[in-house]
Amino acid sequence: MKAKVDADTCIGCGLCESTCPDVFKMEGDKAVAIGAAVPKGSEECAKKMVEDCPVTAISVA
Ligand code: F3S
Repeated sequence: MKAKVDADTCIGCGLCESTCPDVFKMEGDKAVAIGAAVPKGSEECAKKMVEDCPVTAISVA
């Protein structure tokens, strides 16, 4: 699974980094997905952030 943050949409609230620190990190005032793939064990967390990001900037595939 791969996670993606739409940088144009992200408002930098930081919720994804605090909820799934193995998947997302802040870079300046935007979040980015860490690494090429979501680590095993963090997939449910990444999927939850698709629902919980306040501006729906996160997608997983
Ligand atoms: Fe940005 Fe959403 Fe994370 S607004 S900081 S991608 S929770």
